[in-house]
Amino acid sequence: MGGKMKILVTGGAGYIGSHTCVALLLNNFEVVVVDNLSNSSRESLNRVQEITGKSLDFYPVDLLDKSGLDQVFQDHNIDAVIHFAGFKAVGESVEMPLEYYSNNLTGTLTLLEVMRKYKTRDLVFSSSATVYGNPASLPITETFPLSATNPYGRIKLMIEEILQDLYVSDASWNIALLRYFNPVGAHESGKIGEDPQGIPNNLVPYIAQVAVGRRPFLNVFGDDYDTPDGTGVRDFIHVSDLAQGHIKALEKLFAHPGVVIYNLGTGTGTSVLELIKGFEATCQKEIPFCVVPRRAGDIAACYADASLAEKELGWKAIKSVADMCRDTWRWQQNNPRGYGHTPA
Ligand code: NAD
Ligand code: WQD
Repeated sequence: MGGKMKILVTGGAGYIGSHTCVALLLNNFEVVVVDNLSNSSRESLNRVQEITGKSLDFYPVDLLDKSGLDQVFQDHNIDAVIHFAGFKAVGESVEMPLEYYSNNLTGTLTLLEVMRKYKTRDLVFSSSATVYGNPASLPITETFPLSATNPYGRIKLMIEEILQDLYVSDASWNIALLRYFNPVGAHESGKIGEDPQGIPNNLVPYIAQVAVGRRPFLNVFGDDYDTPDGTGVRDFIHVSDLAQGHIKALEKLFAHPGVVIYNLGTGTGTSVLELIKGFEATCQKEIPFCVVPRRAGDIAACYADASLAEKELGWKAIKSVADMCRDTWRWQQNNPRGYGHTPA
């Protein structure tokens, strides 16, 4: 009898990582998490184990700590890596480029060196729709031109290119570049969800904090875009659908495809005002908002052509905006202060 596949999840204590750990455990993978808890809490992994009734191995290791990472690969036969770890605030990346280059780029290089040493050749990488810059048309397919306007996005692009170079150098690598659109929502249990530190940068966590009474109102960044209601349009995707996309990507890698690239989105755009209305319907409260000038660097609209992932992975997003609002609200109500930021 063959043993279970063992997956290393970097950044597994984080928002998307924790939901993916649930999906992995429920799909009978063994899970090893490496996370330095710089933007997360151990409690998320306790909850993952509670939800699934299964256990995982956790290493509080920084990706920049090569010997710490080496030890993880010595302790475990890792079949594949899902690489989430990194800083993710676009605005902060403009203020602190060196920290972002060091953590996100050097952290990835270190991981790749250790993977090469231990001959682990299957990798799923968290890329982002941000690599499409300001798209010339919609919906966005994987063949659209790529560009970046900030260090966060530039590093995503660089890593995509580095991974393709790696494959050219050694065709035994199998790499999935997954370009996420706007991940939102929470696990339906309400036990895990997004737990931003400080003032949320992103729309949905901000709305959730207004709804729960932590903040008085939402700022809507511009209502004069060339969109149906003037506010920004995005492709919001439920984090549990996104997590399932990683399972499908792993299955694809095990068939030895080389480098593959997929958009993970729903294919549908939703405006800021529509999302506010959806949330109001869910929580039965008014979400007060104030229209303020556009946020620097924002684009009018962005949504995926998600048909390639459906065709080649057999994956598509199934949860609705109403599901995203309901699950965000359940998480937020049950955990008004997130995980409580238990010290690492
Ligand atoms: P997150 O901050 O919740 O998770 C990232 C995790 O990585 C955190 O737990 C953090 O502690 C850990 N980490 C950071 N640097 C580390 C290091 N040097 N060593 C070890 N651990 C480290 O973010 P998320 O929303 O779950 O995002 C996961 C990935 O998906 C990131 O690469 C992000 O860029 C990408 N992504 C996110 C979004 C989004 O909107 N959330 C969209 C597109 C792509
Ligand atoms: C969505 C819409 C805002 C907050 C970001 C990154 C992107 C990717 C996903 C990582 C926009 C509006 C927001 C608020 C608002 N991350 N908004 N008031 O900017 O589409 O994408 O996260 O890869 O790279 O840039 O997401 O949730 O910040 O904004 O009106 O308080 O909501 O203007 O139209 P964004 P978002």
